[in-house]
Amino acid sequence: MQQFILALDQGTTSSRAILFDQKGQIVAQAQKEFPQIFPKPGWVEHDPREIWSSQAGVAAEATVKAGHNGRNIAAIGITNQRETVVVWNRQTSAPVYNAIVWQDRRTAEYCDQLREEGHEDLIRSKTGLLLDAYFSASKVRWILDNVTGARVQAEAGELAFGTVDSWLIWNFTQGELHVTDVSNASRTMLFNIHTLGWDDELLALFNIPRSMLPTVKQSSEVYGETKTTLFASKIPIAGIAGDQQAALFGQMCTEPGMVKSTYGTGCFMLMNIGETPKPSQHNLLTTIGWQLDGKVCYALEGSIFIAGAVVQWLRDNLGIIRASSEIEQLATQVEDNGGVYFVPAFAGLGAPYWDPYARGTIFGMSRATTAAHIARAAVEAIAYQTMDVLKAMEADSNLAIAELRVDGGATVNKLLMQFQADVLHTKVVRPGMAETTALGAAYLAGLAVGYWKDLAEIQALAQDDSSYTPNPDSPSLKAGIADWHRAVRALQVWAKG
Ligand code: G3P
Repeated sequence: MQQFILALDQGTTSSRAILFDQKGQIVAQAQKEFPQIFPKPGWVEHDPREIWSSQAGVAAEATVKAGHNGRNIAAIGITNQRETVVVWNRQTSAPVYNAIVWQDRRTAEYCDQLREEGHEDLIRSKTGLLLDAYFSASKVRWILDNVTGARVQAEAGELAFGTVDSWLIWNFTQGELHVTDVSNASRTMLFNIHTLGWDDELLALFNIPRSMLPTVKQSSEVYGETKTTLFASKIPIAGIAGDQQAALFGQMCTEPGMVKSTYGTGCFMLMNIGETPKPSQHNLLTTIGWQLDGKVCYALEGSIFIAGAVVQWLRDNLGIIRASSEIEQLATQVEDNGGVYFVPAFAGLGAPYWDPYARGTIFGMSRATTAAHIARAAVEAIAYQTMDVLKAMEADSNLAIAELRVDGGATVNKLLMQFQADVLHTKVVRPGMAETTALGAAYLAGLAVGYWKDLAEIQALAQDDSSYTPNPDSPSLKAGIADWHRAVRALQVWAKG
């Protein structure tokens, strides 16, 4: 029976399951969006049971499509939205609160307080992260401080904390495994990226009991087997990586200096920096890419919080498109943005600005502004934000980035990709297999069980790329970049109040 690898990609807006064959080609897939919960402005939650049920549902669906109900699956690789926090009861597996999502800003003031108390340098040097509400630690603390009884239970060892990978594996193994991998751990703000362990000083600072934490593993190893009845047989779970790190691996950015950008809910640019963590001088993060065969690969990261989510917002909140795929058609109805600039800071601004109080703003509207101009400004905003991060990355690494590898849902948008190449003045390359996040998780799992022998075998799986070459500089492009920065500055002034 031909064997496949099942990759589970638990993203911010949907859960996906993809089966890959040995050539890295898709055999079957399934996807399900699940509800976003916005209890207050700036708050974003998910129901952990919906995360699990949607993920289990698509895993079963894709497996059935490929026949044999899982008997033909050599291993499962898991990749996930990072930083999002789930706290649950070890005995009952019941979450004590909704998952607090990475985009959630409720702990911004607490982070300001930590900054004022002078903790930023300590956090930065140990974790490689900037002091921001984006990461898990302040969210876990919020749950312990605000959910009745949670702190007492946590101190009695009754509660478990996990990022989404841990939560899924807990459910797949019916509570047998409480694990995560180094890439996810590096996003919690509790993990020392130099010693590769949970850090007691940080745990004390955030007042989080060590007993809540998962065991940290490599990104590619057999952690255990599924125990659910979803599949006809037990399947080894053999790969875990945060989704952006999985995409870096899926794009085979395995050498220092290689860069990819994934256009998902947010947009995340990562550069492989090799086996030594280097601090950023330009407001980027130092993070762990993966650990494979004992070796840790570090990365520099620029995180943009809203990219594809702006298209979803135009669809769900403004109703100017019915499906995300309509954005390109609407945006090309006009020749240019008509002077409209849209800074989609719905969840604050991430790299390189890091302003948790910024909010989405549209500048430059006139009586002549149409839905098409707003759509175009939204598409351009994704590219401008990416440009700001790439400039920071070039400054940090002292490298001129010759080509940007891209992936993720929004890369089907040709208008966006061409505009991206133009504003960056850099070639943009999209691999034939754009599902690089899931593919990265599949590779990690497949390597652990010998489905692929080594990296060389994977690198030999050539893909057909499509690329976008920048048009020669035009004066209007320069003016557009200047106007974009003017809009960002104005927004930051507003955010200060
Ligand atoms: O850091 C958040 C990131 O992991 C979310 O990824 O693909 O859901 O936008 P995505």
